[in-house]
Amino acid sequence: MSEKSLSITNKTTEQTAAYPLLEGTLGNPTVDIRALKNDLGCFTFDPGFVSTASCKSAITYIDGDRGILLYRGYPIEQLAEQCSFLEVAYLLIHGELPNSEQLQTFHNEINGHAVLHESLRVFFDGFHYDAHPMAMMVGVVGSLSAFYHSELDVSDPEQRYICATRMIAKMPTIAAACYRHSTGAPFVYPRVDLDYCENFLNMMFSRPEKRFLEQAHAIDDTAVKALNLLFILHADHEQNASTSTVRLAGSTGANPYACIAAGIVALWGPAHGGANEAVLSMLEEIGTVDRIPQYIAKAKDKNDPFRLMGFGHRVYKNFDPRATIIRKTCHEVLAKSSNHEPLFELALALEELALKDDYFIEKKLYPNVDFYSGIIYKALNIPVDMFTVMFAIARTSGWVSHWLEMTADPSTVIGRPRQLYTGAPRRDFVPLAKR
Ligand code: CMC
Repeated sequence: MSEKSLSITNKTTEQTAAYPLLEGTLGNPTVDIRALKNDLGCFTFDPGFVSTASCKSAITYIDGDRGILLYRGYPIEQLAEQCSFLEVAYLLIHGELPNSEQLQTFHNEINGHAVLHESLRVFFDGFHYDAHPMAMMVGVVGSLSAFYHSELDVSDPEQRYICATRMIAKMPTIAAACYRHSTGAPFVYPRVDLDYCENFLNMMFSRPEKRFLEQAHAIDDTAVKALNLLFILHADHEQNASTSTVRLAGSTGANPYACIAAGIVALWGPAHGGANEAVLSMLEEIGTVDRIPQYIAKAKDKNDPFRLMGFGHRVYKNFDPRATIIRKTCHEVLAKSSNHEPLFELALALEELALKDDYFIEKKLYPNVDFYSGIIYKALNIPVDMFTVMFAIARTSGWVSHWLEMTADPSTVIGRPRQLYTGAPRRDFVPLAKR
C-alpha cells in the first residue's frame, strides 16, 4: 500500500479500512476503493462518474478549475497554433510528436487506408436521402466490423495499430459520402496529394469538373486552416461520455470498429457532441438580440427543460480553453465570409448577457467549445446536421488512442458497474388467473 491512504469507517458496523491514495503526474489524488466491497461490504454510488476515475490514462489531462487542457503534456494552445491535425493524431496515438519522416510515414499510412471498399458503397443505398448523417455514420462505421473481423486478432499490437489508422483514415471518406448521399451527388474518392482536411473538403464539395481548392470558394485557405484547428480542439478530451463508451465496449474484447460506432452513438446526444448542432438551432430560434432575455429566463426556469446549449461543462468550471481559441477563429473566418455574421453577433450578445447573470455565475456555466464551433462550420458551408459528424471525425483520433492504450494495458478488466437496487424485494409469482 502507498504511504498516503484514506480511511473509511462504516459507523453501523464500526469497521474501518484504509484505501491507497494513488497519485498521478498531475491532478487530484484518487482513492483506490476496489477492495471496499470485500472490506466493508458496501459499494460506492456515483451516477455520472462525477467523482470516479474509471481508468488510468496517459493521453489527456484537464484541469477544469484552471481551464487547462494538455494532450500528452502539451498545452492545447500550442498545438492548435502550430500543428496539423495528423501531427496531433500521431501524438495522441504514439505519445510523442513525430519528426518529419515519422509524420510523412503516418500521412502515407492514412492515405493508404482512406479509400472505402467498393462493397461498402452499397450500404449507403439502404439509407433514405434524408437520413440523419449521424445515423448513417453509426451504421456504416459499424459495418466496417463486417469487413474486418474474421482475420482480426486484437491481441496483436501491429493489427491494433492498423485498426486505429484505418479508422482515422476512413472517417472523412465515410462522412463526406454521407453528405453526398443526402444530396444525391456522386461520391468523390480520396486523393493522396491532398492533406487530411483538404481531402475532406474536396470529397465534400468538389464538382466533377473541378476539385474544391480550384473553385472560386470564398474561404478556401481559411476553411482548411479553420477545419484543422477545429479537428485539433476536438481530437481528445479524456474520459468523456463517448470515449468512456468506446472503452466500455472495448473492455469486452468487442470488434474495434463496432466500438467506435458505439462511441459515435454516445457522441450524438445534445449534452455531448450534438451540442454544436443544437447551438445553431437555438440561435436560429432566438433570432434577434431583443429575444435573448426571454431565452435566458427559460434556461433559468426549473420547470422548463430548456438549457442554453453550448453553455456549461462537467469538468470546466472557469472557462473552456478550447472556447477561447475558437472564439478568435470565429472572428477570422467570419471576416472572410460574407454570410452568417448575424448569428455570431447574436452568439456574442447571448454570451455577454449570460455571463453577467447571477444564475450562470453561481453555477459556473461558461460557453464551451461547441458554443462557437457550429458558427464556424456554418460559415464553411458545412450543413448543420453534419456538425456532429465533424466532431466524430476529429474525436476518432482520441477514441482509437484510448482503445489502443486500454488494449495494451494488461490490467484492463471488463467494465462492469454495480448498482443501488430500488426495485421490489423478493416476492412470489402470482399465476395469471389469480392477478
Ligand atoms: N443552461 C442552463 N442551466 C444549466 C446548463 C445550461 N446549459 N448547464 C447546466 N445547468 C444547470 C443545471 O440545471 C443544474 O442546475 P441545478 O444545480 O439547479 O440542478 C446545474 O447547472 C448543474 O448542471 P448539471 O447538469 O448537473 O451539470 P453537468 O456537469 O452534469 O452537465 C452539461 C454538464 C454539459 C451536460 C450541461 O452543462 C449541459 O447540458 N450543457 C448544455 C449542453 C452542451 O453545451 N454540451 C456540450 C458540452 S462540451 C462538448 C463536449 O465535450 O461534449
